[in-house]
Amino acid sequence: MPAPKDVYIAVIGAGGVGKCFLSQLEVISKRLSANPASPTLSLILVSRSKMILYSPEYVALPHGDISTKLAASTQEPLPLPKIIDFLAAAPSKVILVDNTSSQDVADQYPQVLSRGISIVTPNKKAFSGSYKLWQDIFAAAASSGAKVYHESSVGAGLPVISTLKDLVDTGDSVTKIEGVFSGTMSFLFNSFAPTEGSGGKWSAEVKKAKELGYTEPDPRDDLNGLDVARKLTILARLAGLQVESPTSFPVQSLIPKELESVGSGDEFLQRLPEFDAQMEETKVAAEKEGKVVRFVGSIDVAKKEVKVGLEKFDRSHPIAALKGSDNIISFYTKRYGANPLIVQGAGAGGEVTAMGVTADLLKVLERLT
Ligand SMILES: NC(=O)c1ccc[n+]([C@@H]2O[C@H](COP(=O)([O-])OP(=O)(O)OC[C@H]3O[C@@H](n4cnc5c(N)ncnc54)[C@H](OP(=O)(O)O)[C@@H]3O)[C@@H](O)[C@H]2O)c1
Repeated sequence: MPAPKDVYIAVIGAGGVGKCFLSQLEVISKRLSANPASPTLSLILVSRSKMILYSPEYVALPHGDISTKLAASTQEPLPLPKIIDFLAAAPSKVILVDNTSSQDVADQYPQVLSRGISIVTPNKKAFSGSYKLWQDIFAAAASSGAKVYHESSVGAGLPVISTLKDLVDTGDSVTKIEGVFSGTMSFLFNSFAPTEGSGGKWSAEVKKAKELGYTEPDPRDDLNGLDVARKLTILARLAGLQVESPTSFPVQSLIPKELESVGSGDEFLQRLPEFDAQMEETKVAAEKEGKVVRFVGSIDVAKKEVKVGLEKFDRSHPIAALKGSDNIISFYTKRYGANPLIVQGAGAGGEVTAMGVTADLLKVLERLT
């Protein structure tokens, strides 16, 4: 039997998800090294915006507390094109793990893939940007044989992308995809318009969500709906729709017009109570119909319609009954008929997101070695 090959791993981004990924990488590396038939994983590069730790000789960095070692590194940071050159010259196969949310890194994917380097990532930017970038990425992968996996770009570690791909690849006809795609929006509406009880004032719920760390530093980055629109763009494209960009379909922003341009997130939160009446009206209108309001995304595949915004649901509907900050994604298909295939659970958090990335890495390994 041939000796197992080394596979080199390079990790860009060591924040909330990146740190968890590095710990999980250590676990799987040890497990694989116990099996002589498995490939040997060698972590050769870890970087952040302004720091890098790498082995110019392609010798594996020693295990243990890589993020601390990265923070203490005195190596001169390399610009991205130089990192790509370094990885492309490696003496064996390379997997690049992009744990950033950087558009600059995402824009390099076609280049990375065309040089035979595989990619796994939770970064939505490459797959939800221009349609041209999407096409270039998959064309580059097809011609070089490098792999690209991005399960955690939608629903964190939940099996959303793999489920959709399996449905499509096995010939099922996906008619509609609908769900709550944002942990922040889930938390906000489950507390603002609960199925039992009356819930708090909208501005108070937004403030609470921010204090609990469920929102971005400026909550407007959640309330503008763009993050959900990016996830819908990815799923719609996988379902076969040629969606040009996350702004090419209707997306409802929950930022009052008057507060769009206020200077800071704090000022926004201070003034939000002035607009509570608008959201209260929406909640009461739903209640009069025995329903609750939720922030959802949906894709009607036959009509080629994608939209993001507020919708009313019966209290017994699975979307209404969601708890905490969970995500729920329902796939309506010909085979599943009236009862959709539902994926539900935590759609954010370092460990679960990194789990999706690590699982993708294992899939790439299986296909490369
Ligand atoms: N957190 C979640 O629950 C979750 C869920 C689903 C998907 N995701 C996705 O996972 C990715 C990572 O999220 P996160 O929460 O870990 O973000 P984060 O804590 O902000 O970490 C981002 C990391 O990327 C680094 N970085 C940014 N731009 C870079 C560049 N141009 N070159 C090198 N490094 C760069 C940052 O370095 P510095 O700190 O030095 O700037 C930081 O280490 C994002 O794409 C996010 O959308 C996250």
